[in-house]
Amino acid sequence: MNSQDSSQRGSWGSKIAFILAASGSAIGLGNIWRFPMEVSKNGGAVFVLIYVLAVALIGFPVMLAEVTIGRHTQKNPVGAFKHLKPNGPWKLIGYLGIITGIFILSFYSVVAGWAASYLVKTASGAFRGDLTKQISDSLFTEFTSNPSQVLLFFIVVLGITTFIVSKGIKGGIEKWTKVLMPLLFILLIFLAVRAITLPGASEGISYYLKPDFSKLNSTVILFAVGQAFFSLSLGMGTMITYGSYISKSDNLVSDAGWVSFSDTLIAIFAGLIIFPTLFAFQGSPGEVQGEGLVFQVFSLIFAKIPGGYIFGVLFFTLLLVAAITSTISLLEVPVAYLIDERRWSRKKAAMLMGLCAFILGIPSALSTGAVKFFTEIGFLGKMNFYFGNIALAAGALLICIFLAYVWRVKNALKEIAIGCSRFRLKPLWAFSMMFLSPIAIIIILYFIKTIR
Ligand code: PHE
Repeated sequence: MNSQDSSQRGSWGSKIAFILAASGSAIGLGNIWRFPMEVSKNGGAVFVLIYVLAVALIGFPVMLAEVTIGRHTQKNPVGAFKHLKPNGPWKLIGYLGIITGIFILSFYSVVAGWAASYLVKTASGAFRGDLTKQISDSLFTEFTSNPSQVLLFFIVVLGITTFIVSKGIKGGIEKWTKVLMPLLFILLIFLAVRAITLPGASEGISYYLKPDFSKLNSTVILFAVGQAFFSLSLGMGTMITYGSYISKSDNLVSDAGWVSFSDTLIAIFAGLIIFPTLFAFQGSPGEVQGEGLVFQVFSLIFAKIPGGYIFGVLFFTLLLVAAITSTISLLEVPVAYLIDERRWSRKKAAMLMGLCAFILGIPSALSTGAVKFFTEIGFLGKMNFYFGNIALAAGALLICIFLAYVWRVKNALKEIAIGCSRFRLKPLWAFSMMFLSPIAIIIILYFIKTIR
């Protein structure tokens, strides 16, 4: 790689920088918006249990696979597969990832726009003490069915994302995560303590933490595994791309471990806030909760607790930052590809891909009440399902198969051994790569037919 190329690509400034940036990618709306929504749609605590198992047995191994491929090849997903296997169709996995990334970015930025608007609403004092669950629900619907509002915030989020990505890795991503992610974590702990001490919260806690195994079925497992991929930013090469900026002295196992652990912890805390609060105000999770769940419930909390105004502003600021560190990583995948493989400038690549995401995102933005046609299709929900679950699961499957049977586990282990002298989970990881993860994902993808 010549110096012009490497300055275009950038690299992490320090060891901790990868963990920060990758956690920044992983932690986002997936933890705070999507996770509680999936829990409420898929039987409560039993989903949480399967989710944690999915992270440990499939998510963490796939994350290690991705960062290993990334660091070994020092390339974007397409370049990485091409480098390891120049002939054959394998680089298509990289293209699949790039396309998936742009589609996820499109609807993800819409929801991040909701967070931005809730920040503005909270700051302007919209959520006062007399707020009820009904009012909070209708405020949400009112906002999401207003096309100019939704589009405005959507554009703001995509604009910020494009700007940061066009400035490059070092200047962009690390700075945000360093201070703000720990702050988000502390705030969530605080809010969780408040939520579980609300009168009537205990039922919410048992709904969230006491599994009812009669609710366990293939759909629950499908969504739990899909959620693990989505939340850990796996299956589309994000971690290959981020891994490509890791230095050789880093310990990939502990890097992947820390990112998986912190991501899961944040999701668990988000649920510990949502469900106790929801039960305290409503008595049950009601019928299936939709995309508005988190926004409706959080505005209730901030309306009711002392100092709610400050906490509300702080929370939505941090949620927005968490979302933007994720949108950055979604955009970084196609951008890294265009820089490496097509010799584009960073700026041009970022602008053009940002524009694509914008165009693709318009139907999602208008599908929550603004335009009847898209609303009836449930466009945003469909995008979330097909790209956020299916495409990521398919991508993860192909990555496992590639690593285990094309590149081979022993070669991957050589890369892991650089910077990690004792990898105690080696046999387990190899087992997961060769058998457990691919077989589990194939079975899950097979069952999709029966639920649609
Ligand atoms: N993991 C991110 C979140 O939880 C979303 C994401 C998915 C980011 C896939 C990159 C790739 O919010």
